[in-house]
Amino acid sequence: MAGTTNAVAAAKRAAGYQAAEMVEDGTVIGLGTGSTVFYAIECLSGRIRDGLSVAGVPTSYQTAMRAREYGVPLTTLDDNPVLDLAIDGADQVDPQFRMIKGRGAALTREKCVASAAFRFVVVIDEAKMVPRLSGAVPVEILPFATKTAMAQLRGLGCRPFIREAVKKDGPVITDNGNFIVDCQFEDIVNPADLETAIAAIPGVIESGLFSRFAGNTTVVVGSEKKCTVLTSADVFP
Ligand code: A5P
Repeated sequence: MAGTTNAVAAAKRAAGYQAAEMVEDGTVIGLGTGSTVFYAIECLSGRIRDGLSVAGVPTSYQTAMRAREYGVPLTTLDDNPVLDLAIDGADQVDPQFRMIKGRGAALTREKCVASAAFRFVVVIDEAKMVPRLSGAVPVEILPFATKTAMAQLRGLGCRPFIREAVKKDGPVITDNGNFIVDCQFEDIVNPADLETAIAAIPGVIESGLFSRFAGNTTVVVGSEKKCTVLTSADVFP
């Protein structure tokens, strides 16, 4: 088990470092959330010490705290509404670069940052490449509308569960003050249609389905021994 954990950490580190090497001097970038992005921040920190000039828009309090700790200058989407590149993790990526994100409950800010970026660099370990998206799709919901939104989510064919916090009684509260509802689907045949249908439910802030970024996405797939970089040209030659 420890071997597996180390292998996954090595794969995440390889992907994070590879993505950080893609950052060019003088750019403004999006900084996603999670353990793989953490490695990108670590690598960026070294590059900044060596003279790289960069500023990052963080997608969560966690990322902002880590970036400050590692000496990565921060900025906001208000000050920089157009980003050169965004680096982020994912929970599942399919062969058409459609994704499920949001294990860390940062999906709304992650989607805002991804859509502001010219290039979306997704960093994953190889176990996250899947033939078809399936399982839990996180959805951020306004607490006021939780019951009604969950009823409508059920109508889309899932079993929705309010995500419970750890080390706090009750639900997870996102950085935006909302709840996360994890929607358990079987195979997701048409992610784009499902993303649209979820977004149309009153009270839904955003879902963790990212189905419309394929055109400007680069996926960096880390494994214990190497890194593979896939671009949209590999998907839509
Ligand atoms: C944060 O809400 C998520 O979207 C993460 O980016 C995603 O879960 C990947 O996290 P890890 O890199 O920690 O696996």
